[in-house]
Amino acid sequence: MRIFVTGASGWIGSAVIPELLDAGHQVLGLARSDTSAAAVAALGAEVHRGGLDDLDSLRSGAAGADGIVHLGYHHDFSQMELAAQWDRQAIEVFGNALQGSGGPLVVASGVAGMTPGRPATEQDRPDPDQHPRIANANAALELADRGVRSAVVRFAPTVHGPGDHGFVAVLVAIARERGVSGYIGDGSGRWPAVHRLDAANLVRRIVVDAPAGSVWHAIAEEGVPTREIAEAIGRGLDLPTASVPADQAAEHFGWLGQFFGMDSPATSEFTRRTLGWQPTHPALIDDLNSGAYFDVPSHGAESATG
Ligand SMILES: NC(=O)c1ccc[n+]([C@@H]2O[C@H](COP(=O)([O-])OP(=O)(O)OC[C@H]3O[C@@H](n4cnc5c(N)ncnc54)[C@H](OP(=O)(O)O)[C@@H]3O)[C@@H](O)[C@H]2O)c1
Repeated sequence: MRIFVTGASGWIGSAVIPELLDAGHQVLGLARSDTSAAAVAALGAEVHRGGLDDLDSLRSGAAGADGIVHLGYHHDFSQMELAAQWDRQAIEVFGNALQGSGGPLVVASGVAGMTPGRPATEQDRPDPDQHPRIANANAALELADRGVRSAVVRFAPTVHGPGDHGFVAVLVAIARERGVSGYIGDGSGRWPAVHRLDAANLVRRIVVDAPAGSVWHAIAEEGVPTREIAEAIGRGLDLPTASVPADQAAEHFGWLGQFFGMDSPATSEFTRRTLGWQPTHPALIDDLNSGAYFDVPSHGAESATG
């Protein structure tokens, strides 16, 4: 298949491209800058210049594609409405492009905050009022009625591995700045995790095998207690670990406080059973213990993916 990939230069997209190429597919990767274009080309994909805010570029990228993997997202928490609007428009464009073809459209989503207190399953349907992205994912699923083999892949809130610049890397940066590795309350809040390479492998399986209107969980670990994450970061940085009261989370962790305080366990039992997916790469604490998060300069505490 010829697959158009948005977010091709990103953390997950740059692992998905080799997965697709190795399986014999052709990849056309969206790139909005020279740097991103060089990264996509270096992975062996064809480059399509454009942006999520440029619908013509999305239309021309999607034209002639047998399938689309939509991983691009404008991760700016000060522009959440705009980011969701671009995402919605992109999904509409892709739906029109693939309408009636039966081709796959795989759209990224998450599980953070979905079902506090119990593991979220692929069958759970979160309330669209929780976040505008949820309505976008639902719109993608509804494209099944228009002959699109649409699927949503919900990634764990931490897609980890060497080179990660997401939430865990930001936690490391905050611990460095504060001189203490914090967790919120008693640290029993759970974060699911998946290694980037396992996540990429699942995306490839979804592209090939997922039926129309299906939801999948890229979750290798159901929920790592946030206290264990903080302790591993403390060990890695040789810093003390301490509880941060919930009412001081925003002050201590900034924007990340609202996520780190969530209990977001999730399972992937259905995904594994149905698609034969089996995570094989290191677990989150193993990655932290390997030093991968501490041997590299920190990206700072101001940005991360969702
Ligand atoms: N990583 C995680 O832990 C995690 C967890 C849950 C859900 N997700 C979701 O999974 C998807 C992929 O995440 P990721 O970690 O790979 O994200 P990422 O590393 O931040 O990559 C984002 C990608 O989107 C592209 N992008 C951003 N704004 C764009 C724009 N205006 N026009 C065109 N491209 C644009 C970026 O291009 P540049 O390279 O040019 O910046 C990059 O390729 C996202 O939807 C994310 O929200 C990720």
